[in-house]
Amino acid sequence: LIIPEDFPKGFLWGGATAANQYEGAYMEDGKLPSVADVQPHGVFGYPDRNAKYYPTHGGIDFYHHWQEDISEFGEMGFNVYRTSVAWTRLFPTGEEEEPNELGLQFYDQVFKTCREKGMEVMVTISHYEMPLHLADKYGGWKSRKMIDFYTKFVKTMVERWHGVVKYWLTFNEIGNNIHKMEWMTAGIDPKTSTLNDVYQASHHQFVASSLAVKIIHEIDPEAKVGSVIEYKTIYPMSCDPKDSIVVLKEKQRGYFFSDVQVRGQYPGYAWEYFKENDINIEYTDEDMAIIKQYPVDFLSFTYYRSRIASKDYVESVQKETNTSDKEIHGDTAYRGDDNIVNTGKTNPYLKLTPSGWSIDPDGLYLALVDLYDRYQVPIFVAENGLGIKETLVNGTVNDTYRMEYLRDHVIAMQNAIKDGVDLFGYAWWGPIDIVSNGSGQMSKRYGFIYVDRNDAGEGTLKRYRKQSFYYYKKLIASNGRDL
Ligand code: BG6
Repeated sequence: LIIPEDFPKGFLWGGATAANQYEGAYMEDGKLPSVADVQPHGVFGYPDRNAKYYPTHGGIDFYHHWQEDISEFGEMGFNVYRTSVAWTRLFPTGEEEEPNELGLQFYDQVFKTCREKGMEVMVTISHYEMPLHLADKYGGWKSRKMIDFYTKFVKTMVERWHGVVKYWLTFNEIGNNIHKMEWMTAGIDPKTSTLNDVYQASHHQFVASSLAVKIIHEIDPEAKVGSVIEYKTIYPMSCDPKDSIVVLKEKQRGYFFSDVQVRGQYPGYAWEYFKENDINIEYTDEDMAIIKQYPVDFLSFTYYRSRIASKDYVESVQKETNTSDKEIHGDTAYRGDDNIVNTGKTNPYLKLTPSGWSIDPDGLYLALVDLYDRYQVPIFVAENGLGIKETLVNGTVNDTYRMEYLRDHVIAMQNAIKDGVDLFGYAWWGPIDIVSNGSGQMSKRYGFIYVDRNDAGEGTLKRYRKQSFYYYKKLIASNGRDL
């Protein structure tokens, strides 16, 4: 299928990974554990220090395979590669005054090779992997001290890699603090945290993010800094206006994070939400001035699926758990499979992946138009992809379903561009199979490249190209036309 319109010249096509799900070598060359390194296989969002197996410790050993992997990305034609820098390689505890030179050298060579192979480097400064020490000693981002540790980390990186790294993302899926993922996003133990804690942590992250914008622009005026939000398109269950209000409230809980980072101020609905939920965050006038003065240059978001919301479901959970409507929005309604969140039902118009995630390219079109209408800043799709169990047959995987998924989401982007959305790039999540963040599985495979490693961490780590490797290569070479 050849579609008539081209993506803009210079459109960025590539892939995204995160250090903790990928690099392995979790204690090598001076690195110490991050919050991800105490999350065992199959446990989502909680630390457990006594487990037998931690998938992030070995990842897929990018630390010793980076030349091969970057070369394969270059072979596919990537002109952007998004990854995170493991904070604990540079500052193993977070408190050191001077960075670990060996950690810096590792990324020197990775980024240099990316550039040589024609890829822009996009660094996620914090992708679920802050130093474990800072979580244990200070309670993570609940503490204001985190701002200094983070800005020291940022300054070190930009001083080293200005002119090499063009794009910076301050926090991965910053809004997931409020989705029971605060261990990963902010180093706060969800077993004891309150809604106040997670909004306080978010406030500290907003200040830190704005200071990162300031530092990066001062050192490298050419660099662009973005925010990453998690976005799931939400549909009302019915045409009952009350269902649409539930949708709006859910959306506001997500918009809050991009509103602050892009528009530079706390929106009115947030103060109202704080009042209704007895949330009293500590902040200063100076914090708010920093947030106002240094908004991000662009917005990026992760998109995998959509969900539906209904007033009835919210009320039923409210009754069942004896919690207020607002508390349900805060917590309870989010637990479980995202496709059924707020309704208890799946969307009958959509297919599901075996892990129960809806496949909804139209939802991506709607997301793009919605976010661009709201913010009018350049947009980047930071993650999108399909994770599924796969078996190697004759040294490859004939993953037609992945090619279809990719094609349909590319068409959705094309339609948004035709509508005038200033979309400048797309990163497939996990262009090579890596450890799943949610399940810790290796068997939830997203890659165009298969890696021989199983859920118990066994395997040769040998890499094999799937059929989608060639499909993406062709798609990139034609700038999104040859689908
Ligand atoms: C995103 C995260 O939310 O989803 C990634 O930024 C994650 O870290 C990705 O891997 C896919 O989720 P999962 O649970 O399938 O790995």
